[in-house]
Order: sequence, then structure tokens, then C-alpha cells
Amino acid sequence: MSQNTAASTLPRAAGLNAWLAGSLRRALGSRLAATLSFPHGVDRYLEQFDPSWSLHEVRAEVVGVRHLTTDSVTLSLKPNANWRGFVPGQYVRLTVEINGVRRTRCYSPANSAHARDGLIELTAKAHANGFVSRHLREQLRPGTVVTLSQAEGQFALPEWRPERVLLISGGSGITPVMSMLRTLCDEGHKGRITFLHYSNKATDLIYADELAQLAARHPNVQLLRAFAEPGQGGELEGLFSRAQLAQAVPDYAQAQTFLCGPPGMMKAVQAVFAAEALEARLHLEHFTAAPVVVDSAGAEGEVRFARSERLARNSGATLLDQAEAAGLKPESGCRMGICHACTCRKTAGKVRDTRTGQISDGEEDIQICVSVPVGTVTLEI
Ligand SMILES: Cc1cc2nc3c(=O)[nH]c(=O)nc-3n(C[C@H](O)[C@H](O)[C@H](O)COP(=O)(O)OP(=O)(O)OC[C@H]3O[C@@H](n4cnc5c(N)ncnc54)[C@H](O)[C@@H]3O)c2cc1C
Ligand code: FES
Repeated sequence: MSQNTAASTLPRAAGLNAWLAGSLRRALGSRLAATLSFPHGVDRYLEQFDPSWSLHEVRAEVVGVRHLTTDSVTLSLKPNANWRGFVPGQYVRLTVEINGVRRTRCYSPANSAHARDGLIELTAKAHANGFVSRHLREQLRPGTVVTLSQAEGQFALPEWRPERVLLISGGSGITPVMSMLRTLCDEGHKGRITFLHYSNKATDLIYADELAQLAARHPNVQLLRAFAEPGQGGELEGLFSRAQLAQAVPDYAQAQTFLCGPPGMMKAVQAVFAAEALEARLHLEHFTAAPVVVDSAGAEGEVRFARSERLARNSGATLLDQAEAAGLKPESGCRMGICHACTCRKTAGKVRDTRTGQISDGEEDIQICVSVPVGTVTLEI
């Protein structure tokens, strides 16, 4: 076959494959297929052939595992065709099965939105007692398939790229701003970008080599590494302060600033921006919140799960915990009131918000991971 013939049949073959894939997808998504596969669903049968196959879910195969620091893991994930992409700064909910139980946590893709390999890069810092992060660090190998949500979240690089960008991060909070930096560099962004990162010591800095390379290649990128321990060779030393910011980034008030890091650092940055009425220029992402504390003494009434027709005695735990204890599997992510993945309709009853202590009544959407029932409550799940 001549080269020309091969070239002209290729698009036809590709079209045929796309048509077959489309037809197959339609057939598998039909009511008949749903009936035939009841009660397990089509996906359960598809995954027998290939665990990354699914009609609707985003499944992703681990194709690379790196350890850029001693307590982190960087995963390269190849998503299936259901993945719709992300905006730098957003996060995904990743679900893994640990000892037969599905566990979900949020992770922010760190790759450029223009990565040509189509892979998603997630970097997780393994917390000493962290259930999922340690599992990712210790157990995930190339070939493992994980489940992802579509990208979510308001913390995102604006479509109209700001002229002056300040990225401030600490610890594992580097991931969403790393994605912003990589994306802007790939786009040949001409405006000035300052990347200010805080960590304890040089060996804790994830992406250290790549950051140095990006700063060397792009004269508009200023890299400021701040290490808490002295003698680590960073551009700055110590913790965040207004004086340090004013000296290192004198024009910070003109920048659009994107912030993600540990709670103490974020609080300090927010206080500086609030004192100067710059809140509108500060965009932030929290990875963690105060732990949910519940007082179950005196709990009364019942929790009614209307759609699934289940009923449980109110144990005083959060509605997410109570739903799971009743055998339901509501969506969840952070379990701390940050990501809104668990939002459910409450059709009757009162709940207390564990963060504020406020009680709300009647029909409303609530985050069930931070809501405890006060008396009898009906949820639409
Ligand atoms: C929107 C969003 C995006 C996120 N993106 C990333 C990311 O890109 N990379 C990443 O490493 N993490 C990220 N996280 C945090 C991540 O979702 C998990 O909370 C973290 O991996 C710990 O989960 P775990 O199951 O190991 O810990 P758990 O078993 O849930 O908790 C174990 C202990 O660790 C503490 N803990 C939990 N999370 C943190 C934290 N972030 N910092 C300090 N202590 C903590 C808990 O209070 C608890 O004491 C993100 C969180 C959110 C809400
Ligand atoms: S699970 Fe994230 S807000 Fe409830």
C-alpha cells in the first residue's frame, strides 16, 4: 500500500472507530442495557474487561509514580474519555478502595492545562496519620486504576490572564499554584509572575528543580523560596510577614494573588490583605479546616433518608457519618465543609452547623459533613 493510500484510509478508519465507539456507548447507555445489568449496572460488567472503562465515571490509570520529596508522591494519571479537563487551580475528588472501603479526598492537579500528554498530575503529601495520603504514597503503582470526579472549585486562573500575578503557597499547597505557573509559562505569558513558596527546609520543597528551571528560562518569573530553618539557601528566611512581603514583592498590591497553604500561613496573608483593603485581589484555596467536633450527648429523634426509604435513630454524629452508617454512599470529598461535594437537600427538620453552632430550620441545601441533626430530620437521599 502506498503512503498516500495509507494516509487517506487512516481518517476513514479513525472515523469508523469513533462511530463504533459512539454506537457502543449509546447501546450500553440504553435502558435495555441498564435493565439487563440490574442490579449491578453496566459499569460493573465493563470493568471486568478493563477497570478504567466506565460509561459515565472518570477512571484514571496510574502510569507514573515519582517521589520528589521523602514524604510526598507525584502520580501521573491517564484518564478515560469521560474526563472533561480542568482550569488551573481547581481540584478533583479522588476515590480509592482501601481494605474494601471506598475513600475519597480532594487533590489539585499540578500539571499545566496545556500538557500535551493528556495526563493529570496529582501530588499528595503523605500525612503521618493520613489514611488516604499514606495509601497513595505507599500502595499506588503503575497500573492501579482510581476514580476521579470532574474538576471542581472556584479557585481558578481567570480566563483573562491577569497582567501581574503573585502565587503564594506553603507545603503541599504548592499544587494548584504550580499548575497556574506551568500553564502561564506554556502560554508564553508576558506579565510578571512572582512565585513565593514557604517550607521548613530546602528538601521539603516539592518541584524544586522544575521551579529553578522555569525561573531560569522565563525572565518574567521571579522565584522566592522562603525556608523557616536558617541556612537553607533560599531567597528568603523565616515565616510570612508583611515586612517581608513588602520588601520582596513591593508591588504586591497591584497583583492578582493566589494563595494556598497551611492554615496559619493563610491567616497571616489574609490579615495583611484585609488591613490594606486588598481582599478583592486575593483568591484562596483551603486544603484543611478545623476538625469537625460533635457532641452526641442528648441526641434525639430520627434521620429519615427519603429517596432510599431508610430510617435511623439520630446518633448525634454528622449526617454524612449517619448516612454512611445506614449503608448509604452519599458523595463526599473533604469531609470538613470545604468542597461542597456532600451538599444534600434537607426537606424537614433542624440541623446545627458544627463550624458555627448555628441552627437552621426547614427546606434547604446543607453540607451534611458539617451538619448534625437537632431532633428529627429528613434528607432527600
Ligand atoms: C480543595 C482541596 C484540594 C486539595 N489538594 C491537595 C493536594 O493537591 N495535595 C495534597 O497533598 N493535599 C491536598 N488536599 C488535602 C487532601 O484532600 C487530604 O486532606 C490530605 O491528603 C489528607 O488526607 P488523609 O486521608 O491522608 O488524612 P486523614 O486521614 O483525613 O487525616 C489524618 C490527619 O491529618 C490531618 N490533616 C488532614 N489534611 C491535612 C492537611 N491538608 N494539612 C495538615 N493536616 C491535615 C487531619 O486533621 C488528621 O489529623 C486538598 C484538600 C482540599 C479540600
Ligand atoms: S465533603 Fe466537602 S463539604 Fe462536605
